[in-house]
Amino acid sequence: MRLGLLIAGVLVVGGGSVVWNSMNSGDHSMSQPDTAQIAAGDAIASVQLPAALSAEATMGEQFFNVKCAACHGVNAAGRNGLAPPLIHKIYEPNHHGDEAFYRAAENGVQAHHWRFGNMPPVDGITRADIKPIIAYIREVQRANRIR
Ligand code: HEC
Repeated sequence: MRLGLLIAGVLVVGGGSVVWNSMNSGDHSMSQPDTAQIAAGDAIASVQLPAALSAEATMGEQFFNVKCAACHGVNAAGRNGLAPPLIHKIYEPNHHGDEAFYRAAENGVQAHHWRFGNMPPVDGITRADIKPIIAYIREVQRANRIR
């Protein structure tokens, strides 16, 4: 009987935190998004592409495809088990400003938002390479109403 009550209590608390997390997505205190239903390596976000990219973002897309897409996926849609979609509310400019992109690429990232392990520093990349990558990500983010 007491055990039953305890289990019921845990269920209530657990259910409450799911609601709380979904209300707070984008908040730094959130727990990791659940990608359990997505096959390994598949895209996590469904990304709308802008009608056109600026010249800088077009260059950034090429750099991104060489340096980042193996993990973050084509169109930065993420790859389950490898790396998150950067076209995601978590990475909106107010929450992950441009400096977070420079730091991620130059120094790597300790896993904290997802369960995909750490991001290693990206070899042979300069701030001058990262700048157009950021322009590309921001233009695609805006096409997905992430701003
Ligand atoms: C080897 C795989 C891998 C590669 C290559 C990679 N990333 Fe990542 N990246 C990750 C993982 C995994 C995370 C998630 C860390 C976490 O749990 O928050 C991440 C997170 C990030 C973040 C979020 C940083 C933060 O402060 O939370 C940014 C921005 C980012 N990556 C940008 C890039 C860019 C730009 C490139 C290419 C220049 C790149 N990544 C290449 C695996 C990778």
